[in-house]
Amino acid sequence: MRQRLRSSDVHGEDGPMAPWWQSAVVYQIYPRSFADSNGDGVGDLPGIVAHLDHLSALGVDVVWLSPVYRSPMDDNGYDISDYTDVDPLFGSLADIDALIAGLHERGMKLVMDLVVNHTSDEHPWFVESRDVSSPKRDWYIWRPARAGHEPGTPGAEPTNWGSFFSGPGWQFDPASGQYYLHLFSAKQPDLNWENPAVRQAVYEMMRWWLDRGVDGFRMDVINLISKTYPLADGPVNGPGGLCYDPSLVVEGPRLHEFLREMNREVGITERELFTVGEMILVNVEQARSHTAAEAGELGMVFTFEHVNLDQLGVKWDLKPLHLPELKANLAQWQYGLAEEGWNSLYFENHDQPRSVSRFGDDSQEFRVTSAKTLATTMHLLKGTPYVYQGQELGMTNAGFTAIEQYNDLESLRFHAEAVSGGADPEELMAAIAFKSRDNARTPMQWDAGPNAGFGQGEPWLRVNPNHVEINAAAAIADPGSVFHHYRRLIELRHQLEVVRQGRFDLLLPEEVRLFCYTRTLGAEVLLVVANWSPEPAALPLADLPSLDGAEVLLGTHAATGAELAGWESRIYRLG
Ligand code: NOJ
Repeated sequence: MRQRLRSSDVHGEDGPMAPWWQSAVVYQIYPRSFADSNGDGVGDLPGIVAHLDHLSALGVDVVWLSPVYRSPMDDNGYDISDYTDVDPLFGSLADIDALIAGLHERGMKLVMDLVVNHTSDEHPWFVESRDVSSPKRDWYIWRPARAGHEPGTPGAEPTNWGSFFSGPGWQFDPASGQYYLHLFSAKQPDLNWENPAVRQAVYEMMRWWLDRGVDGFRMDVINLISKTYPLADGPVNGPGGLCYDPSLVVEGPRLHEFLREMNREVGITERELFTVGEMILVNVEQARSHTAAEAGELGMVFTFEHVNLDQLGVKWDLKPLHLPELKANLAQWQYGLAEEGWNSLYFENHDQPRSVSRFGDDSQEFRVTSAKTLATTMHLLKGTPYVYQGQELGMTNAGFTAIEQYNDLESLRFHAEAVSGGADPEELMAAIAFKSRDNARTPMQWDAGPNAGFGQGEPWLRVNPNHVEINAAAAIADPGSVFHHYRRLIELRHQLEVVRQGRFDLLLPEEVRLFCYTRTLGAEVLLVVANWSPEPAALPLADLPSLDGAEVLLGTHAATGAELAGWESRIYRLG
């Protein structure tokens, strides 16, 4: 059994101890789709507890659990109506305790999803806030109608902001004649972080979870919590005269102050908690300002820059990925956070399509190899890697063909809006098939049996028919599987300080098919060479460090010649 990581086990490049989470690999569980223990078609906590050995076998250190709190499930739990209880759909607090115990026994830690930019409209705080005379009125962001407009009529919203899920970002409340702000769905009203009582209630809730034994938090859209006042119109750039410019609402003037206060009040640095802030539009300088040790804010942030490179503006406007752009972007983050701050490394999560379908090649011929090559490219970077459930099996996009097969409110709302705007139906369905969040939410493929071994009941979202071939049982039995490749990558990180803390240097930035870089720590140098294309590619040996005496630590193929096969990759330790 592995020991739990502690900072004192870890030594940084220059001697000082690095925090334990800089050596960790995280596994994200989207509970609704992981494993269903009671046959209701929805994954649950006992289902997770039953599969902890899968995570141990993979070797991950931390589990990030997407929300399991009480919720009306408008946004699958990202709309919380009780922060200190578990939704009956997922189980009970006793099940959480069993999960914490089961993980800790196996040397793993638990990170909860912290969703505090907004609550559900069914949260008692918001229910009280609807009453204008309630002390909770100011816990949310209420505003009168735009001057000169009849409240509740189109265009009377206090500002022209669109919500991230399409349509106006304000909801009219007839009882008080005012509007409340919701940057996501109307069932997700934004909290007013200017009110100190709101902040204290959040910190108290965080301490409550820590007392229960959790080890940290993944913070949902945390760079939206500080709004810029006065709230004002932005440039119109979307249907319905709306402004869909997230730069208006991110990184507000009090964000640093709020994050520092949270860190202090909850004891984030002091207790060595794991923290990662999801930050829309964050750039590398901002990331450094939030994650440098002296900032006293967060461990790391999630950027969106690299996963937005296959779109032209909004996520549904597709453009092919140009490898040099991806390399330049990842390198910019590697260099930008090399001395101060820390990177989180990911290609997938519950909001992103499957990476093998998106950036790799999910054909019969290249699915396994390209999934491994994407994994190698990401896991040898400096930072904390995240594996999203099923990514370790090379699970692919859902393959849905009709809008009725989708469940996600973002996809459905976009579809409805685009249809009413006269969009070309074929293009529309192609964009949704490629980018919908449901691609990552199809049930976890455990085996080749009914419902992919997810559970006895009809799953809430259709199982991918390819589970007969792509599943955990088959992957574990096959030493050449994507699963075992991930396991070896995680092992390498645990074994080699150069993987954890070595310096990153990008090679051949303009190469359109090869992704090559080195990692260096003292005399130790690793070289990663990866062919991101289905065609064979010669290694430009003259432009690479010498391979004399080099040893392949891990490769997708047995070969060691001067040509990489389609989607082949290798990790060399240089002589
Ligand atoms: C980001 C989460 O990852 C996403 O799933 C959710 O819909 C929004 N935040 C709103 O909470």
